[in-house]
Amino acid sequence: MKKLLENHETSKVLRDKSICLLFYEPSTRTRVSFEQAAKKLGATTVTTENARDFSSAAKGETLEDTIRVMNALHFDAVVIRSDYAGAAHDAAKVSKIPIINAGDGAGQHPTQALLDIDTIYSRFKTLDNLKIAFVGDLLNGRTVRSLSYLLTKFKGNHFELVAPKKFQMRPDILAHFDEHGTSYHMTDKLSDIADKVDVIYMTRLQTERLKKGVKVNGDKVRINQEVMSKVKRGTVILHPLPRSTGFNELGEEWSDDPRVIIFDQVSHGLYSRMALLKLILQR
Ligand code: NCD
Repeated sequence: MKKLLENHETSKVLRDKSICLLFYEPSTRTRVSFEQAAKKLGATTVTTENARDFSSAAKGETLEDTIRVMNALHFDAVVIRSDYAGAAHDAAKVSKIPIINAGDGAGQHPTQALLDIDTIYSRFKTLDNLKIAFVGDLLNGRTVRSLSYLLTKFKGNHFELVAPKKFQMRPDILAHFDEHGTSYHMTDKLSDIADKVDVIYMTRLQTERLKKGVKVNGDKVRINQEVMSKVKRGTVILHPLPRSTGFNELGEEWSDDPRVIIFDQVSHGLYSRMALLKLILQR
């Protein structure tokens, strides 16, 4: 897919396919990335963003009925982002066409994890024996949850879980690490482990999942000069984006640092989603 795009080509492998993008939660990258991926392979798309307010959900229609409607409208797949964990699963139960989870509340974000491992692989040429730090709001962020599942499938990886105490990884993921014999260590201070890891995966404070007005001190989970002076030259810093002011975890001043590869991630998102759509939809 990367080669195809670098050669400025558009494939037509999905020319007879149409994909519905149903987004109940805000999104820039994931939605545009899926649309671009579909169109680069010749598919057509229909998108409803802000579906909570602008679709029949606002009139009380259930998710299940909306999915039945998309089946009846002869779409070939639905990409869904919802604000509750389990939404994609509920949608799939009533759907004959594939449902792709583009983020379900504080649940999972599997295509983000695919693009993240594709980005990591492009740097290290392996997904084994890596030391990975997950940093920030690990309680509410879904990207680190999906990435935990994927990276646990490879050998010898070790996780540093860096979060303010009340924002640590949930027990279900810790149990998954234990079941697979994957080692992990918890801390609340990024500078303590910054020199020990190959990948630093930053995340924002998920303010939309917190009670209004809750303030959390992000001083110890922020990239700053002290942290960066410890980060090795070969270490990469990822972030699913958006960066935000909640923790101010990765300030604008670090955008051009060669260790920060957050916009490479976006390109890998396009390649991965093109590959996924082709895999699911090509006859
Ligand atoms: C992530 C998400 O929506 O979970 N963003 C994304 O899809 N790139 C991360 C986030 O919103 O913090």
